[in-house]
Amino acid sequence: MPEAHDHKISSILLRVLSEVKPSEAEIAHTTEKANELMGRIKAIAPKSVEIIMAGSTARGTQTKGNSDIDIFLLFPRADEERPMELKGLSIAKKIVNKSKGEKFEIKYAEHPYLKLIMPEDGISADIVPAFKITDSSERVSAVDRTQLHNVFVNSMLSAQQKDDVRLVKSFMRFHNVYGAEAKTLGFSGYLCELLVAHFGSFQKVLSAFSSIKLPMVIRFGKSDMSIDETVKKFNSRFVVVDPTDSNRNVAAVVSEDSLARFATASRRFLSNPSIEYFYGVKYSDIDSAAKLTGLKNALGTELYSATFSFPKISEEILWQQLSRLDMSLRKLLSEYGFPVVIAVAGIEGRTGAVGYFINKSAPGSRVVRGPTAFMPDNFDAFADAHKDSLSFFMDGGFGVAIEKAKFHSPKDLLKFLLKGGGMKLPSYIKQKGIKINRGKVPERSARILYGSYVRMTYI
Ligand code: CTP
Ligand code: MG
Repeated sequence: MPEAHDHKISSILLRVLSEVKPSEAEIAHTTEKANELMGRIKAIAPKSVEIIMAGSTARGTQTKGNSDIDIFLLFPRADEERPMELKGLSIAKKIVNKSKGEKFEIKYAEHPYLKLIMPEDGISADIVPAFKITDSSERVSAVDRTQLHNVFVNSMLSAQQKDDVRLVKSFMRFHNVYGAEAKTLGFSGYLCELLVAHFGSFQKVLSAFSSIKLPMVIRFGKSDMSIDETVKKFNSRFVVVDPTDSNRNVAAVVSEDSLARFATASRRFLSNPSIEYFYGVKYSDIDSAAKLTGLKNALGTELYSATFSFPKISEEILWQQLSRLDMSLRKLLSEYGFPVVIAVAGIEGRTGAVGYFINKSAPGSRVVRGPTAFMPDNFDAFADAHKDSLSFFMDGGFGVAIEKAKFHSPKDLLKFLLKGGGMKLPSYIKQKGIKINRGKVPERSARILYGSYVRMTYI
């Protein structure tokens, strides 16, 4: 009965919306705060600087408790970039009211901006210097586009569709695919707005992704390019061309993993809608170490973990570095004869952790794959370098050497790689702050790793 089914979905969405949409009073409070901040800026900024509100609070697509104020200071395009940034930051710093307990941090995206934290109101505001433009061809950096996004979204979305954006963002957040940061590699707020503008509603967005066939290319208005050309141009199988800038793929950072997760979650929700499924997995992180041990035993593996202590720098950079290290470690573990059964990783505050469940047998030898014999110089050099190996043979045209295993346990290998100079570590990961464990994981790292495991396996 399709009608009963649709009715069920509608009633779920109504209920979720009442929880994820800020109340009229909250919206009024935020708007008042934003206006007050813009007033402070206006009082000291040169007349040539235009002050606008941007992002989801300006567009009415913000979700409860998750969307802060974005204020842009738009400088005349005639100014020079670097002095413009500095002037913008200096104006932003001057409006911080310390007597009210306000604090700020300078953050860096493609441009520096100031994050103002207002503890009294429980709100924070990003104050971003940019150039005033009317067309993306005039832009200098990525942040200049944001003002154009405002215009497009406001002209495309009805009030009902803005609520649908809130539902899409929330559904994605609960399924761990919302946010373009390195931590998630998921869907940005603007991308959600474009999806609703294109497909029409929450349900239509989910239904399109439920039966997604790659490549998926979304464009607004006419284009001279074919789908294939667009896929080639952006080198991605999921492309949403920015309606305000035809050279940008708004979905560029969405990983295929996030895309696949969203597609699967959409299909599951639509075929069997429930409030519980909308809200995603809930779990307790109490006794995480014991839970990891339980998992390790059930898998019949050993668990090796490394904990890192990071300096105080942006979480975005930490995530990038941790992800990069994790990829290298997995690859090296496997190359040395310790293929990883399950890998988990995460960051909490300034602690990072990676964990690898690995089968217990110790390798006696190691397979080293060499170049193809049809590149004779390389092949001969490889053969020469491995002339004392335990065995040497051809496999599908490639030279393969079998070496005596140098490391008999993953822990020895991890020690060599992380603490013995065996690999180049990312800049903010220092040997001294690394702890390697076999078996039981300290509770703090265990919380990180267990959380990663729960999110990863929630499909
Ligand atoms: N923006 C962008 N690309 C990004 C991040 C931000 O173009 N990777 C622009 C978008 O126009 C976005 C605005 O900057 O709307 C503000 O960014 P942000 O606060 O991260 O997103 P919101 O759309 O405001 O969504 P949220 O509700 O999560 O705050
Ligand atoms: Mg925002």
